[in-house]
Amino acid sequence: MGYSRLAVLNIFLVCTCSAAPPNFVLLFADDLGFGDLGCYGHPSSLTPNLDRLAAAGLRFTDFYCTSPVCSPSRASLLTGRYQTRSGVYPGVFYPGSRGGLPLNETTIAEVLKPLGYATAAVGKWHLGFGANGMFLPTRQGFDQYLGIPYSHDMGPCWNLTCFPPDVKCFGLCDIGTVTVPLMHNEAIKQQPVDFLNLERAYSDFATSFITTSAKKKQPFFLYYPSHHTHYPQYAGPGAAGRSSRGPFGDSLLEFDNTIGNLLTTLEKTGVINNTLVFFTSDNGPELMRLSRGGNSGLLKCGKGTTYEGGMREPAIAYWPGTIRPGVTHELASTLDILPTITGLAGAKLPQVTLDGVDITEILVNQGKSKRETMMFYPTDPSEMYGLFALRMGKYKAHFYTRGATHSGTTPDQDCPVFALLKAHDPPLLFDLESDPSENYPLPLVGRPELQDVLGKIKTVKKQFEASMVFGESQISRGTDPYLEPCCNPQCNPKPSCCRC
Ligand SMILES: *[C@@H]1O[C@H](CO)[C@@H](O)[C@H](O)[C@H]1NC(C)=O
Ligand SMILES: *[C@@H]1O[C@H](CO)[C@@H](O)[C@H](O)[C@H]1NC(C)=O
Repeated sequence: MGYSRLAVLNIFLVCTCSAAPPNFVLLFADDLGFGDLGCYGHPSSLTPNLDRLAAAGLRFTDFYCTSPVCSPSRASLLTGRYQTRSGVYPGVFYPGSRGGLPLNETTIAEVLKPLGYATAAVGKWHLGFGANGMFLPTRQGFDQYLGIPYSHDMGPCWNLTCFPPDVKCFGLCDIGTVTVPLMHNEAIKQQPVDFLNLERAYSDFATSFITTSAKKKQPFFLYYPSHHTHYPQYAGPGAAGRSSRGPFGDSLLEFDNTIGNLLTTLEKTGVINNTLVFFTSDNGPELMRLSRGGNSGLLKCGKGTTYEGGMREPAIAYWPGTIRPGVTHELASTLDILPTITGLAGAKLPQVTLDGVDITEILVNQGKSKRETMMFYPTDPSEMYGLFALRMGKYKAHFYTRGATHSGTTPDQDCPVFALLKAHDPPLLFDLESDPSENYPLPLVGRPELQDVLGKIKTVKKQFEASMVFGESQISRGTDPYLEPCCNPQCNPKPSCCRC
């Protein structure tokens, strides 16, 4: 089946005859770790729909995002470029951030638009808001958008913590900022957003988008980055209290329910066999939230660190009839999604330096990856320090290590913020195949073959860093309280009057 689909695609590319171009559904979880899904071994998570995708699709064991925090990781997913190029660093955007993903960056949506694709983003954006919403998805190739523009703890989430009393909600969130708005395209639809019904609103919006596009026989791209499973964990009426894993499990279940709705819609509208569904997460789990945070499974540390737990993620590709069920150990990354979708759609690659490679061969033939390396930048990349770590084949070398607040509370002393920046010369070298947990640095003395590996890694690092042109930092442009989204812009006193 795989071969025949590829053949059809090739014919389509060569003769541009009338075979329908494929649809793409890109699902992105938030702060979800390598060990959080049932199909990745979690014993009490309830993820029947993601497990179904994994059972009938291709599950990745060695898939990476590009940053251990949110905004930079999202920038890379949508552009196929390391965040250092687009300037989406250090850290993440805030409600009043002046910057955003630069408008001259080309997103997957912008790649597909010229081919007549319908495009929609639903969920958490977190690539900037800016003056008059100038950085919203509708300015980056998406026809439609429904969602919250940044994380749901970036506002005083009063309506999350207290009502209704039988729904499990936890967390204090940020104060001194506007309540989190729900955006419809560029307009504020609700402020504060109705968190408990947010997932349902997403599901309805996405379902309607798929149905409308399928009816019109228009190819479509749906990007659905959920606010789940970011802190604070909560779920609406359909999932609260329904998992045995507590608030994190409920939040994950609510997301999984929506994925189930989307799959049903793809089936009902008859487009499921012509749709690539891809699932992954933005970064590792926020271990500081104790049992209310995610879990990186057997990987070391989590969010905020350049250990495996910070950046290796679950990833699943599903496309009945085209992708055979299986597991791949090939190296792949969120960087590769843009070039792969571009190739499958027969679109044109943006004329910029891309860091991604086309992984169609892995998807369709369970073949080899063109990716040989993965670069690990910290949350605050700089030209001075460069890469913190580099993976080449099965080996990973750490040049610097550092713990992170987000990874606090674990028994491993390397993870919390108290583990200060440490330079390693020679670098710490791990064999990720025999030691995926990065427990045992390889002894280099008397091991010329490993010295040789390290030499190669150093050469690749040097070449990569020499070719990296850092874009102007968008996040260092700072914040301005007047840029925070407010449904009643002239009101007083801000931010509390921004309620409609
Ligand atoms: C976008 O514009 C900035 C500022 O002019 C420039 O430095 C950057 O290289 C441009 N990026 C792309 C992808 O063209
Ligand atoms: C998808 O393909 C399978 C296997 O060929 C077939 O049984 C199913 O009916 C198809 N679904 C749709 C909606 O076309």
